Amino acid sequence: MNEPVIQFEHVTKKYGEATIIPDLSFAVARGDFVTIIGSSGCGKTTTLKMINALIAPTAGDIFVQGKNIRDVDHIMLRRNIGYAIQGSVLFPHMTVEQNIAYVPNLWNKNDRKRTEAAIDKWMAIVGLDPAMKDRFPAELSGGQQQRVGIARALAASPEILLMDEPFGAVDEITRSSLQDEIARIHRETGITVLFVTHDIKEALKLGTKVMIMDHGEIQQYDTPDEVLAHPANSFVGRFFRNERHICTMPDDKIGECAYNRVHA
Ligand SMILES: Nc1ncnc2c1ncn2[C@@H]1O[C@H](COP(=O)(O)OP(=O)(O)OP(=O)(O)O)[C@@H](O)[C@H]1O
Ligand SMILES: [Mg+2]
Repeated sequence: MNEPVIQFEHVTKKYGEATIIPDLSFAVARGDFVTIIGSSGCGKTTTLKMINALIAPTAGDIFVQGKNIRDVDHIMLRRNIGYAIQGSVLFPHMTVEQNIAYVPNLWNKNDRKRTEAAIDKWMAIVGLDPAMKDRFPAELSGGQQQRVGIARALAASPEILLMDEPFGAVDEITRSSLQDEIARIHRETGITVLFVTHDIKEALKLGTKVMIMDHGEIQQYDTPDEVLAHPANSFVGRFFRNERHICTMPDDKIGECAYNRVHA
């Protein structure tokens, strides 16, 4: 197997006496789309934020593109990792264009053309009308703001994209079209994605692998078909019960059945 893009080795996270993550080890291969699902407070956001060094582990090692992030400058590390979170994270006093340009501008202060080309490209990719360039966040719908946030996360052309419930605040139709867009971006760019969600259908639809967490521990980490067909324990089973119930197929076909349903 190729060298993993992200690797956790016996990572522990404690806050005071409370152990949030006891002993976490996993690897993400280049180009994977890993969806992370689990109960509230189980450590999903903490896990993502340890990858871009917004949170430091108490013990253990995290490797990003083969380098222990302890030994890497954290500003440099974050340049290669896009980060999109739920809700409005746009700068309210900046236009759409300025918001998206914020990151590339840091690098290309003297290369305005290149910045403009990047803005046009990413607005098109996330399905935003270029006429919206000069609007302020308050003049956009929630879904449009979300798209700007994703465009900004992608604008620096990172090799890794961390998304923390990015589609939580939008309606079903917008959500579905954002899902299709992120799936297309993943296909077309080969970017490695880690995507936290509370929506099991979203996890199954988007993930090339699904990670199910509880109490800071991985309960199962496998392809959507495999977790559906062979849930590792009753915690995992509970997530998929609704998917399983709609199937009248034999057990070994359940994965396929639910897959077809999610992709219908
Ligand atoms: N700064 C902190 N100090 C103490 N405890 C914290 C701190 N930050 C997070 N926690 C605790 O760590 C646990 C994991 O938090 P985290 O944000 O990773 O959960 P999560 O899985 O993302 O939950 P949710 O699905 O609700 O977003 C929670 O119990 C939370 O209360
Ligand atoms: Mg969270």
